Amino acid sequence: MTTTQDQSSTNSGAASSEAAEKRTVRFRIQRCLGPNKPAHWEAFDVPILAGEGANVISCLQYIARRPITADGKETDPVVWDSGCLEEVCGACTMIVNGQVRQSCSCLIDNEAPNDGDVISLQPMSKFPVVRDLWVDRQRMFHNLKRAHAWTPIDGLHDRGAGPQETAKNQETRYIFSTCMTCGCCLEACPQFLLVDEPAKWDESFVGANTIGQVRLFNLHPTAKEEAGERLEVLMGPGGVSDCGNAQNCVKVCPKEIPLTEGIAAMGRATTVKAVKQFFTGE
Ligand code: SF4
Ligand code: SF4
Ligand code: FES
Repeated sequence: MTTTQDQSSTNSGAASSEAAEKRTVRFRIQRCLGPNKPAHWEAFDVPILAGEGANVISCLQYIARRPITADGKETDPVVWDSGCLEEVCGACTMIVNGQVRQSCSCLIDNEAPNDGDVISLQPMSKFPVVRDLWVDRQRMFHNLKRAHAWTPIDGLHDRGAGPQETAKNQETRYIFSTCMTCGCCLEACPQFLLVDEPAKWDESFVGANTIGQVRLFNLHPTAKEEAGERLEVLMGPGGVSDCGNAQNCVKVCPKEIPLTEGIAAMGRATTVKAVKQFFTGE
């Protein structure tokens, strides 16, 4: 039989274990109120319950509901970009404790397991800041257009069965198809620099993700019809020869895409094309 005294000690035990599971994590956030405005830092304290699966985005949502800094000042809600919340859309990339990564899959229990731990958040540095942690990733999509990274099948008419693809080809291509245009590989790349003026984008390095997409589409049984056009882009200014082979890209890709293998394959393909052009003039 449970006595009143037993009951109260059981309750206080539960309360203290719950208290032990609660902790506060401090977020230091690099803020910027608009394009080309100066950056400044603000700190926010967020209560975390261990095991509840809090991630950086859920903490930013908490701060948005209660935009009060750690020293008690009211401020503007922090702005960030996100979509899928499951590491698929690529929109939530930011620099978390100095590492570029997806903020939706950054779990607080892993990143800041102790009471009083600090997490710093910064926007990517290779894209113009729109506001706070939100950057303009337009240049990445421009580079995909620049390199014809699509399958050119238009119209609704029946074109019959497409060419067959081998299982081995599919296997090589599949991993490249998982690219979510998140920009982690570009942020980490010493050759990919911030270019504010869109007029200069076509002269600057396309980056590992675009080279990977050329690899994907040049192996596609239908899209390889335009393989030559894509290789021309990679042979031009800002093409594959701008890669310095630092291999940072492959280390940070959340999808573990073999980017350096793709870059090497496209490097060989552009060399073969250049030699062919030299001898045949085509
Ligand atoms: S291997 Fe090339 S694309 Fe990758 S980080 Fe290095 S320079 Fe950039
Ligand atoms: S290659 Fe990887 S790191 Fe680069 S944009 Fe695609 S998914 Fe992101
Ligand atoms: S919100 Fe889509 S990848 Fe993080």
